[in-house]
Amino acid sequence: MKKYFSKLAAAQTPYIPGEQPKIDNLIKLNSNENPYPPSHHVIEAIQNELNDALRLYPDAKTTKLNEAIARKNGVLPENVFSGNGSDEVLSMAFMAFFDSDRPVKMYNISYSFYDVYAKLYNIVVDYVNLKEDFTAPVEQLYNSKGGVLIANPNAPTGIELTQDELEAIAINNKDRVVIFDEAYVNFGGTTAVPLTKKYDNVLIIRTMSKANSLAGIRVGYAIGSVGLISALNTIKNSINSFTLDRLALAGATAAIEDNEYYEKINQQIADTREYFTGKLVEMGFTVLPSKANFVFAKLNGIDGQRILDHLKTYNILVRYFNREEIKDYVRISIGTKEDMDACLDALKQLV
Ligand SMILES: Cc1ncc(COP(=O)(O)O)c(C=O)c1O
Repeated sequence: MKKYFSKLAAAQTPYIPGEQPKIDNLIKLNSNENPYPPSHHVIEAIQNELNDALRLYPDAKTTKLNEAIARKNGVLPENVFSGNGSDEVLSMAFMAFFDSDRPVKMYNISYSFYDVYAKLYNIVVDYVNLKEDFTAPVEQLYNSKGGVLIANPNAPTGIELTQDELEAIAINNKDRVVIFDEAYVNFGGTTAVPLTKKYDNVLIIRTMSKANSLAGIRVGYAIGSVGLISALNTIKNSINSFTLDRLALAGATAAIEDNEYYEKINQQIADTREYFTGKLVEMGFTVLPSKANFVFAKLNGIDGQRILDHLKTYNILVRYFNREEIKDYVRISIGTKEDMDACLDALKQLV
């Protein structure tokens, strides 16, 4: 099977994406996708882009998109870098900022793609173990030899750090790059973008897959100092200068410009999360305090795999991670209120 693999390819343990099955009437709560459609401006912008200009390369500098992101976040376009999903931006960040001889601090429980990139790029990880309640021992993130990468809010727990804690991490790693992955910040979390203006070592990475209902067109971006953005562009232009196609650029720009719509749907998701959490707690579940568009929950005495299997019989898909520390938990994405009521009804049968 691996006959033609390079040594590099043969040594990898690739990421396993959440299942995307084609089943009718499936309630899909396993990939933290947004249950609401993209803004209609996004669809129109993509449709307008379907013309003869497709024969021409897109704008390698992603100028209009970067300008829209800059305007929305109160930074300058030169503080923005856009890429093909935040997974790609993260991958380029590994190459741009981390070195093999300097261990990078990460949580032991977080987004598992970080470990995949670390292995691919031969980066040693200095794991910081979360406490028993899954909160972070913040001071252990200080004085990293190689940099810091954390998701805030964290995945799959949904727990976030305060601004003061994030600032302390930035200050106490002043000669190393500190990356905050804000994939889930738009559901009631607090962004660290203001820190990028105060500290030139802080990089924010965001995705448009969750909060902007655009997992299907693959757009992510980073915000940071000109020096950090320049390193990312150096890596990008050493791999593929045209990571975002014309359709993705048009759609993502229109999405950023329709802030009003997205704030409305994401507030709805945050409200549904609180409603769903309350009902789970009433049923006897332990639910971690989430600021994301998912909850991480367990029912004492029942293995997470069993909860997943039970929900599957009701055509409801959730995510389970087969790791000792979190094997009792399932991660349930927040869908519409109807989706969550169906999930609650199915869970009642299990309780
Ligand atoms: C913490 C975190 N970062 C990044 C991503 C990747 O997002 P994208 O769809 O932009 O590649 C995910 C996706 O699940 C995530 O959970």
